[in-house]
Amino acid sequence: MKIVSAANKEEMSRKAAQIILDLIHVKPSAILGLATGSTPEGTYRFLADDRRKNGTDYQKVRTVNLDEYAGLKPEDPNSYHAYMESHFFRYVNIPSNQHFLPNGTADSLDEGCKAYDRLIERLGGVDLQLLGIGRNGHIGFNEPGTPFDAGTHVVKLTESTRQANARFFGSIQEVPEKAITMGIGTILRSKAILLLASGPSKAEAIAKLLSATAPDTDFPASALLRHPNVTVIADTDAMSLANTKAGSL
Ligand code: F6R
Repeated sequence: MKIVSAANKEEMSRKAAQIILDLIHVKPSAILGLATGSTPEGTYRFLADDRRKNGTDYQKVRTVNLDEYAGLKPEDPNSYHAYMESHFFRYVNIPSNQHFLPNGTADSLDEGCKAYDRLIERLGGVDLQLLGIGRNGHIGFNEPGTPFDAGTHVVKLTESTRQANARFFGSIQEVPEKAITMGIGTILRSKAILLLASGPSKAEAIAKLLSATAPDTDFPASALLRHPNVTVIADTDAMSLANTKAGSL
């Protein structure tokens, strides 16, 4: 695991965007695995700026997102479809039939999950998977206890995750109770993984991840110890409880 330090969220975002741009420059048809939430917002902003200034071409890029709430239509403003549209897709030229998210309103969510894993396989696998981390160590919506070999599946969200995400909704009651997430098995099949963490609320999770010596399903992010190509970019606040020394890019 490569640990990269950043002075603050801005620098974390810039470094992450640079890694994504470097990939697109060497592989214009890259398959990007994308995440939502507060953490990657700045990264998407840097990519949008770069597109405006430098015209980086995304015509051949394809994207697959980590997760989506069950029951929310793509046009629902709280859906991750809507998040991706407003934070990233509208600013770059990825043809709309080349971005994929789990279908939260499929007739059979379970069938939709299987189809999503088949889709990722058909695309040739994810070249770079972007991840945030939950305070409890979740990645995607894989909460503690999730088996590490799971494919895309339906999850019941924990109260703590619903609480944490309530800020995007009017109230906690409006946060869906279920979501669809790439499983940890799916995430680990990505060729490279880039995990971002910013702010003091992530300090405990980052300290635990960086001191982990063996994968443990009670702490989902520790599954990343099984992956040969993981980069963690954490800002000073997120690194504040970690003993590990971070390098720079
Ligand atoms: C988002 C996702 C989640 C978030 C995590 C951190 O697609 O899968 O695992 O990365 O909950 O969320 P933020 O970035 O809002 O702190």
